[in-house]
Amino acid sequence: MNIRNQSLTDHAGITSGSFDMVAKTFRGLEDVLAGEIEAIGGSKIRKGTRVVYFSGNKELMYRANFHLRTALRILIPFYEFLAKDENELYDRALEFDWSSLFRKNMTFAIDGVLNSPYFNHSRYISLKVKDAIADQFRKKTGKRPDVDTVNPDIRLNLHISDDRCTLLLDSSGESLHKRGYRSEASPAPLNEVLAAGMIMLTGWNRRSDFIDPMCGSGTIPIEAAMMAYNIPPGIYRKNFAFEKWTDFDRPLLESIYNEDYPDLPALPRITGSDISSRSISMARSNAKNAFLGKKIDFKISSFENMVPPGNGGVLVMNPPYGGRLKHENMKAFHVIIGDCLKKNYAGYAAWILTSNLEALKFTGLRPDRKILLFNGPLECRFVKYSIYKGSKKQNR
Ligand SMILES: C[S@@+](CC[C@H](N)C(=O)[O-])C[C@H]1O[C@@H](n2cnc3c(N)ncnc32)[C@H](O)[C@@H]1O
Repeated sequence: MNIRNQSLTDHAGITSGSFDMVAKTFRGLEDVLAGEIEAIGGSKIRKGTRVVYFSGNKELMYRANFHLRTALRILIPFYEFLAKDENELYDRALEFDWSSLFRKNMTFAIDGVLNSPYFNHSRYISLKVKDAIADQFRKKTGKRPDVDTVNPDIRLNLHISDDRCTLLLDSSGESLHKRGYRSEASPAPLNEVLAAGMIMLTGWNRRSDFIDPMCGSGTIPIEAAMMAYNIPPGIYRKNFAFEKWTDFDRPLLESIYNEDYPDLPALPRITGSDISSRSISMARSNAKNAFLGKKIDFKISSFENMVPPGNGGVLVMNPPYGGRLKHENMKAFHVIIGDCLKKNYAGYAAWILTSNLEALKFTGLRPDRKILLFNGPLECRFVKYSIYKGSKKQNR
């Protein structure tokens, strides 16, 4: 048995000292997330696939939840052991003193992630650990904590890789992409964490003009404005899971919440436009929820008619990928996208996220960079085109 993060066992929480954490993210965003963790003072940063490992104290754990734009949740590993079947898993789970983490009148939930030839069902492994927790409490106190999968007091994750089992405490609760500003969503809204990650991947300096000419419900311009105005993504959240822990330090969270986030000296023009008036009305209302209603210029316009406000900057767009549309239509659509970029966006770095690489070829533009990203289950490329006046050769 190996109890990690010894300070966790002091009581339900982390009281002092440094402990290990795991930030989950989307594939392709590990580098930007590692950079964000470094910026808030994390140490021992190590990248994995869809995760970044790091260390820090309780304050850093609160900061990670509050400030990281590209993290989906922050987990704290606290117990590791080896098991090759369900009985061993149950026995090892029974060896942990669960009263050090929560009390019998608290509710809990366990999610399982499985990558092992020894176990078959992630639901079943979670049930085994849940049984061990319930049996231990019942034996010691005559009462067992209840399971609540919707709004539990304590959320646990069980990861099994081969025979290595790790139990982690979820400090976030609801996924951190649920910032709290989106009340309305277009049919295919981007995940907020993915949108923030895409903007960071462009290297936008938060001062030059920024435009999303197919903005749908406004996710990309809103995330860009939050970055430009130094607004932490956690500011709109109603709560984090760690607020239910018995060691919750409210003054510490309030001090992080109330820190000043100075405006940057030169504020950029951020524009979002879309052909659909319904999408623009959703985008406006989401921006208003984020207190950014006056900071983003939303316009109803087709991309074909959209003239950017300045002479250069960063364009990020997430056009429709096609779905049920005929290939011929998507081909013509991408010819128009390419023509409009060349005609109207000289001086822009134009970034397009799409899963339709075949259609993208019809823009007639040569990509400078292609980054593999996933939009939900869809494998996409985030492609950069540098748009020059005249021919590329001349400009070089
Ligand atoms: C995949 S959605 C964008 C979703 C958006 N990123 C969000 O988070 O809500 C694509 C958007 O492109 C818009 N669109 C399609 N054709 C367009 C055109 N020719 N000009 C401008 N917008 C267009 C659609 O109305 C739709 O809102």
